[in-house]
Amino acid sequence: MTVSVQRQSDPEGTERVLRSLPEWFGIEDAVHNYVNMAARLESHIASLEGVTVGVALVERHFAHSAELALIAVHADHRASGIGRRLVEAVEDSLRGEGCRFLEVHTVGPSYEDAGYAATRAFYDSVGFTPMHEFHKLDWDGPTLILIKTLN
Ligand SMILES: CC(C)(COP(=O)(O)OP(=O)(O)OC[C@H]1O[C@@H](n2cnc3c(N)ncnc32)[C@H](O)[C@@H]1OP(=O)(O)O)[C@@H](O)C(=O)NCCC(=O)NCCS
Repeated sequence: MTVSVQRQSDPEGTERVLRSLPEWFGIEDAVHNYVNMAARLESHIASLEGVTVGVALVERHFAHSAELALIAVHADHRASGIGRRLVEAVEDSLRGEGCRFLEVHTVGPSYEDAGYAATRAFYDSVGFTPMHEFHKLDWDGPTLILIKTLN
């Protein structure tokens, strides 16, 4: 079975992916917010036999930088290379538009959590560098900001 990645929006598929990951996306308001974002932001989806199994959303704040606003791979398909392919698709698209930096926010290391430790290991593997941990930025605990240059 071949996974294909394309620039496409699929709010319903995005919701299905998020609901398979309650450890990361267990807050109802946050899920609704991401599903709304899937309809309005640049979206890349990974699909398997026509079914969305992964999603990456990109928000542009400035001309030469962008934020990876969401990345998620369905629980049944994690750790099989789909997240890396989504990041590569996002990078290719941004480079083509002259964008030079990609940032991402996640839960910071001062909050002990095995799930988010795995998320940070993923970001490290795909080339992001931690820049700064802030407290009470996106939630009540620590937020880590990571960045990657798009050469
Ligand atoms: C994080 C996530 C998007 C990664 O996607 P994925 O398809 O599982 O990851 P991949 O299989 O593409 O892995 C890419 C690299 O990251 C590394 N990696 C992935 N998960 C890892 C883990 N749990 N521990 C250590 N390394 C990990 C892999 O070793 C791989 O490196 P390699 O290609 O050199 O072997 C996915 O696991 C996910 O949806 N997690 C839950 C939601 C989440 O954390 N979203 C981000 C919230 S801020």
